[in-house]
Amino acid sequence: MSRPLAISADHIRVSPSPAGVDPLRMPSHVAVIMDGNGRWAKARGLPRMVGHSAGVEALKTTLRLCNDWGIGALTAYAFSTENWSRPEDEVNFLMTLFERVLQQELESLEREQIKIRFFGETKDLPKRLQELIFEATERTIGNKGIKFNVCTNYGGRRELVIAAQRLAQRCVSGELDPSSIGENELEAELFTAGEVDPDLLIRTSGERRLSNFLLWQLAYAEIHVTDVLWPDFDDVAFAKALIDYQSRCRRFGGLDPIEADQLGSK
Ligand code: IPE
Ligand code: IPE
Ligand code: MG
Repeated sequence: MSRPLAISADHIRVSPSPAGVDPLRMPSHVAVIMDGNGRWAKARGLPRMVGHSAGVEALKTTLRLCNDWGIGALTAYAFSTENWSRPEDEVNFLMTLFERVLQQELESLEREQIKIRFFGETKDLPKRLQELIFEATERTIGNKGIKFNVCTNYGGRRELVIAAQRLAQRCVSGELDPSSIGENELEAELFTAGEVDPDLLIRTSGERRLSNFLLWQLAYAEIHVTDVLWPDFDDVAFAKALIDYQSRCRRFGGLDPIEADQLGSK
């Protein structure tokens, strides 16, 4: 399904939600582990790289759907700190692909009011990619539409270690008292500072693990695993994930609100 982005002049969503999905109970923030590009290619007798290119199209579709359906933020896992262990050819291909896509899409990100941010250790990425990341972040920083976060050279453990180092430095410099460190202080040092936690995590390709993704931020996310391989992830697969999400009772350690009401009225 390829529709133009449905943003009106004042960025009010105009597209209807998919059948069976309640527009009033949409997740504010969706995170995706885009997995299965290699297997998608292999099943077609194609090189893995073709799967990665097809994966970019699925990501564009997903961003468009989030925008159409009124989801405020999309965070996508594009390259993990562990993905450097892949063959050099594949890593180089991915870096060049990220560069090319950013270059090609920057104008439409600007035009469509999308605010792009990059989570991860971008300083270790190729120079040209770092420049493009800087440019895209700067040029979209004031945009008021959907927030699109791309995790590149991202690792949840690494993120927590960096946050701990920053807090320690602030303590050593006397700016911070160790006893005043709470969840808010730690959260403010994460790559994701200022972003609400994901409500829904989608992992494609049937794998049931986090693979070092958003270890802190996913504490209370609802998890949807689908066997669909990432390049095949489309509006139907996304709608299924949303229906699954909306079927859950999110208790956050408390009681089901209906049960709590009944207990309270006794
Ligand atoms: C996800 O697809 C993309 C990245 C990790 C960059 P994979 O490349 O992991 O695909 P599979 O898991 O080998 O099928
Ligand atoms: C997770 O996928 C990382 C990204 C999608 C970028 P992987 O394919 O690297 O994860 P594992 O190795 O199956 O855990
Ligand atoms: Mg994989």
